[in-house]
Amino acid sequence: MTVLLFALAAYLIGSLSFAVVVSRVFGLADPRTYGSKNPGATNVLRSGNKAAAVLTLLGDAFKGWLAVWLAQVFGPQYGIGDGGIALVALAVFVGHLWPVFFKFVGGKGVATALGVLLGLNIWLGVATLATWLIVAFAFRYSSLAALVAALFAPLYYFYSRQFSTDPILLAVVAMSALLIYRHRANIANLLAGKESRIGSKKKGQK
Ligand code: G3P
Repeated sequence: MTVLLFALAAYLIGSLSFAVVVSRVFGLADPRTYGSKNPGATNVLRSGNKAAAVLTLLGDAFKGWLAVWLAQVFGPQYGIGDGGIALVALAVFVGHLWPVFFKFVGGKGVATALGVLLGLNIWLGVATLATWLIVAFAFRYSSLAALVAALFAPLYYFYSRQFSTDPILLAVVAMSALLIYRHRANIANLLAGKESRIGSKKKGQK
């Protein structure tokens, strides 16, 4: 029962869309109205305000990390183990994708997934972030970097567990699958050569 309370708290934490909140604080347009219309750091960057984009990235990553950290630190005394932590990890991610506070219209989950992975295992997060950075610097597509990182994250986790399965692996696989699903439009744009590159301020794409 307590595990469901932890998962509900994680879902509510995940439902805080920093792209929308930070944009309001900075007096910027709602990111759901321009660019890719995605409430995420990449789209906030298209507003031209780098500080707002960085704060969005940090906020969305922090909430993913926080939910996992809370479950890891306070969960064991309520009997919460790997299964509960996996559920919490998935719940905060789902909160970001379908936030109760924003009519269930959320983001694609890249920053939040990074926070979750850093919380689960710092090296898992660092390896996944490094993968994102390498692809992003090489090709300058945020979405492509996220897709490649999402493919590698479960492999990194699987490797770190000496190729044994556990509930957390299932959560990481589910997060990657959902993240890739949310990038459907980006995949179509990448294949059509129409995806906008990092830093591009082009509006109305996708
Ligand atoms: O963080 C989401 C990124 O991978 C793609 O964002 O706005 O280009 O669809 P966007």
